[in-house]
Amino acid sequence: KFMGQILDVHQREKQLMALLGIDHVLIVAGDSDDQPRVLKDIGRLVNETLRVLLPDGRNIIAVMGGTTMARVAKELTPKLSNERELVFVPARGGIGETVDIQANTVSADMAQRTHGTHRMLYVPEHVSKETYESLLQEPSVQAVLQMITHCNAVLHSIGDAVAMAKRRGMTTEEVNMIKSEDAVGEAFGYFFNDAGEVVYKIPRIGLQIRDLDSIPYILAIAGGRSKARAIQAYMKNAPHQTWLITDEGAANQILKGL
Ligand code: BG6
Repeated sequence: KFMGQILDVHQREKQLMALLGIDHVLIVAGDSDDQPRVLKDIGRLVNETLRVLLPDGRNIIAVMGGTTMARVAKELTPKLSNERELVFVPARGGIGETVDIQANTVSADMAQRTHGTHRMLYVPEHVSKETYESLLQEPSVQAVLQMITHCNAVLHSIGDAVAMAKRRGMTTEEVNMIKSEDAVGEAFGYFFNDAGEVVYKIPRIGLQIRDLDSIPYILAIAGGRSKARAIQAYMKNAPHQTWLITDEGAANQILKGL
């Protein structure tokens, strides 16, 4: 029975790769909407995937924030640093998250748990355009932006569009705009419709979607049936080298046609 289940999971991983048009899909058992344990398993699988995948030597890993990423960070281990130097950087400037799930926080936690290092990106959310622009000229900010440009790995999650718009404290006007544009998914501060088209973008510095094409190791980490539609929308135009690390809750929902 157990072998049968494993074969079945591999089948579904292959079906999802074909359906989503990406090279790699890994599915863990369960649904993280119902069982918090599933996110822990996703985190362990991320650790194992990075251990196998990342090349020896120096790796610059750009990470996003969110509750999934914050939870995944807790499962990373010092094993990842065998034969490697890991440098974690936040992928984009602050996009309105509370401190415990900000990219800066996740990046610092990942560095600590893997015995790597990290750099902070000091660009606050709510400053005037003038302050923002002069901050971008700061050498310490420039240095981190340079590192983001040279990253070889990206770790990010995918969120439900409306839930993310509200969590990021966007105005009622902006939330309504996103709804009227039929946004269903969000990643990196970009909002997507079912066809995978970008319908809105939070203007922030750092990694942009077009930069992903040239990055060899990209892990998109998102689970739970409530994220199925968002995942499918984002994957419409995601780089083919993306690894989707998800759970049965999301996978089964996508495979049965949402
Ligand atoms: C982040 C992504 O990693 O996770 C966001 O950059 C995404 O774009 C978010 O929406 C999802 O957050 P959560 O809390 O659902 O994991």
